[in-house]
Amino acid sequence: MSHPDDREEFQAQGRSNALQMAEDSALFEKSKNLIIAADKYRYSYLWTWLGVPIIQMPADIVALQEAVWRSKPRVIIETGVARGGSLIFFASVLELLGGGKVIGVDIDIRAHNRDTIESHSMAKRIELIEGSSIAPETLEAVRAKIPDGASVMVVLDSDHSRDHVLNELESYAPLVTPGQYLVVADTILGYLSQHETPTERSKVWYEGDEPLAALRTFMARSDDFELDAEMNGKLIMGSSPGGYLRRRLSARSQ
Ligand SMILES: C[S@@+](CC[C@H](N)C(=O)[O-])C[C@H]1O[C@@H](n2cnc3c(N)ncnc32)[C@H](O)[C@@H]1O
Repeated sequence: MSHPDDREEFQAQGRSNALQMAEDSALFEKSKNLIIAADKYRYSYLWTWLGVPIIQMPADIVALQEAVWRSKPRVIIETGVARGGSLIFFASVLELLGGGKVIGVDIDIRAHNRDTIESHSMAKRIELIEGSSIAPETLEAVRAKIPDGASVMVVLDSDHSRDHVLNELESYAPLVTPGQYLVVADTILGYLSQHETPTERSKVWYEGDEPLAALRTFMARSDDFELDAEMNGKLIMGSSPGGYLRRRLSARSQ
């Protein structure tokens, strides 16, 4: 049987290990090479959540669950819906938490994907908005769906070019409430060279024109967010290392 003190010790050890992982460049190199090699099989496209395809790697899904469970937002905004698995995932965690909703934004919500999402048992917690995530009318529609006083988390997983992600950061960061997460997906692209980047997708993003470059520019301009060092340490074996920001409790609400 575990004693409460044992649990605290276990958690402290885990945190310390995660922080050390962040410094382990040899492990990161191996992990990166594994991710590049597995991408030949479109590894991040192989998974489903409650029956719906989710384009994430398992470590990223677990990390997102930890972020939601820890900060318990009432609203999660995700840009980049694709087939809908990540929306179903967030909705299912909110369901276990007993409340809240997910707002999914995508420039192109295909009819069959919309049908899958809208007929799922988690649909009651999901609202869809079709449009470019950075278009003023999309942002207006997103804001209109946030209830007054709700705690808000944001996940950016749409167009991964630097300028688009930076525009999203400037537009969506003010919606994140103090203590909540702002997640920038696929920061791993910032560590890849052009030939290592998946080429079968419609666009190729790598060093300099990718989410990590946007995140670095954003962080240089903003004092309101801090990096979650523990989460980012663990995620050197995932696709979003360095992508987990948390709004400081001291940051002014918008
Ligand atoms: C990587 S997928 C999202 C994966 C999804 N979050 C998941 O975990 O399953 C990227 C999505 O971003 C969408 N997208 C691309 N450009 C966009 C834009 N300007 N605004 C909103 N969505 C965009 C694409 O249509 C695509 O569905």
